Amino acid sequence: MSHEHIELRDSPIAGRGVFATRHIKAGEVVFTAHPDDIKYEIDAVYAMPPDQRDAILYYTWQCGPTTLCLDGGIGRYQNHSCDPNTWWINEDTTVARRDIAAGEEVTCDYGAFMMSVPYDMPCNCGAANCRGRITHRDYLDSRFQRTHGDHVPPYIRDAINAAKLSVQTDLDVKA
Ligand SMILES: C[S@@+](CC[C@H](N)C(=O)[O-])C[C@H]1O[C@@H](n2cnc3c(N)ncnc32)[C@H](O)[C@@H]1O
Ligand SMILES: [Zn+2]
Repeated sequence: MSHEHIELRDSPIAGRGVFATRHIKAGEVVFTAHPDDIKYEIDAVYAMPPDQRDAILYYTWQCGPTTLCLDGGIGRYQNHSCDPNTWWINEDTTVARRDIAAGEEVTCDYGAFMMSVPYDMPCNCGAANCRGRITHRDYLDSRFQRTHGDHVPPYIRDAINAAKLSVQTDLDVKA
């Protein structure tokens, strides 16, 4: 479910995106789960005919270790930015990361939820810190981790912690 002051418009990033129709303050909830959202198990999606599978992969975001979510509203049109103006506060809610001006496109970082579905796409976000490509392994990058801190879904936080622990264990074994 989206903030009441967000609407669908053509986007300079890609196709259509979602835009603020009035000023949104940092910390305001921008998207959160709604009963109309549909959940899919990733294995079940890969067992579907290719057209159906690809349509679901295009519009869904990963909302759990093995789950994809389809926003029942305009949230499915949210584009990615490497300098997003929203970020996660729990598994299914994003808030404004900074003040968002009326007319500004509302973006999130796909790298904050992509993990289990292979993904590698050239990025057209135009941000000064654009990573150039968006992949399902961006959460492993230390600069990404510094930028997002705990503002990622819990399964991504767990995966980051597991990766750090595994590096530490390797170092301990070699010491
Ligand atoms: C969930 S859709 C977003 C809505 C899409 N713009 C549309 O009009 O259907 C995700 C797709 O949007 C495009 N997209 C989103 N963010 C992008 C970005 N930063 N750079 C390039 N393409 C992007 C890609 O084609 C991606 O697969
Ligand atoms: Zn980018």
